[in-house]
Amino acid sequence: MRVLGIETSCDETGIAIYDTNHGLLAHRLYSQISLHAPFGGVVPELASRDHVRKLLPLLKETLQDARLSLKDLDGIAYTKGPGLVGALLVGAMFARALAFSLAIPALGVHHLEGHLLAAFLDDIDLEFPFLALLVSGGHTELIDVTGIGRYEILGETLDDAVGEAFDKTAKLLDLPYPGGKELAALAENGNPTRFHFPRPMTNKPNLDFSFSGLKTVALRTVKEHSLEEQPLTEQTKADIAYAFQQAVVDTLVIKAKRALLETKRRALVVAGGVGANIALRKALSQLCISLGSKCYFPAPEFCTDNGAMIAYAGAKRLVAGETTDLTVDVKPRWPLNEVTAL
Ligand code: KG4
Ligand code: ZN
Repeated sequence: MRVLGIETSCDETGIAIYDTNHGLLAHRLYSQISLHAPFGGVVPELASRDHVRKLLPLLKETLQDARLSLKDLDGIAYTKGPGLVGALLVGAMFARALAFSLAIPALGVHHLEGHLLAAFLDDIDLEFPFLALLVSGGHTELIDVTGIGRYEILGETLDDAVGEAFDKTAKLLDLPYPGGKELAALAENGNPTRFHFPRPMTNKPNLDFSFSGLKTVALRTVKEHSLEEQPLTEQTKADIAYAFQQAVVDTLVIKAKRALLETKRRALVVAGGVGANIALRKALSQLCISLGSKCYFPAPEFCTDNGAMIAYAGAKRLVAGETTDLTVDVKPRWPLNEVTAL
């Protein structure tokens, strides 16, 4: 089965074609980051309009890359939620209309299910069950994954998502939006001993997270030093970036360790945009080695939002016989444990 995947839940337009016999045939991604950067965050209406502009050209390019035409498609998967309602609607309408015209099924996929299964796109020895650490701009969750649609959320953030905390702290350090990657680069020059930020909620026995306090500690540190340094020196910024990143990494590692020990899972899948963070990758790899577990990191292009993960998740469900009616419903809020199990 050849399945077209369409991702439009936020600020990335992703299109991909997944073949259940031959794997990923082609994928294209268009990021709206430069469109939203002047506003310091995603502007929902601009996001929707840009998805409208980009979907058709991206579809044409992806078909060309795969040397296929529309009639070669057997099904369409699109992101049904969670996400920005307007952006989701653009993808859902596009997918439904195209599927109707081709007389093939279209299926709405949960965005986080896409992230959770993205590691299967390139790591073929991965098997269920596994523990997933989902770290993105909107999510921070530890999830026990025992099959497709079988997800138990073991812990989650009570306030800011980890990517959000990276972006807000980066803003305090005058880095451009979204600043996670730039903050990580700045941290490389940081002095590891100058500042120490807390490891939030690690003394609590649960697996939940809280990252909004770290941003406040960063703000306080910036203010304190702004009195002596005007403007803040690059070294002080780098030292703050280091302390922040190290606190985040340690916190995630402590909770991931706890979850691995509690569930006795032997595999950890790290998903979401913050999974691209090198310090986090190193620390989680070391953790897995010390526990005799295996760590899986999807390729960076499949860590961030993309169409390939939606095509893959949709293909699994379509092959299993899942179908939907012709309604175009999107779910801006959609708890992960409400998806149907295969
Ligand atoms: O998964 P993603 O592309 O989008 C969603 O949120 O769905 O994640 C984007 C987030 C942003 O907050 C971005 O700053 C962060 O991932 N990010 C990073 C790095 N690369 C991206 N954070 C820390 N270090 C990085 N290298
Ligand atoms: Zn995402």
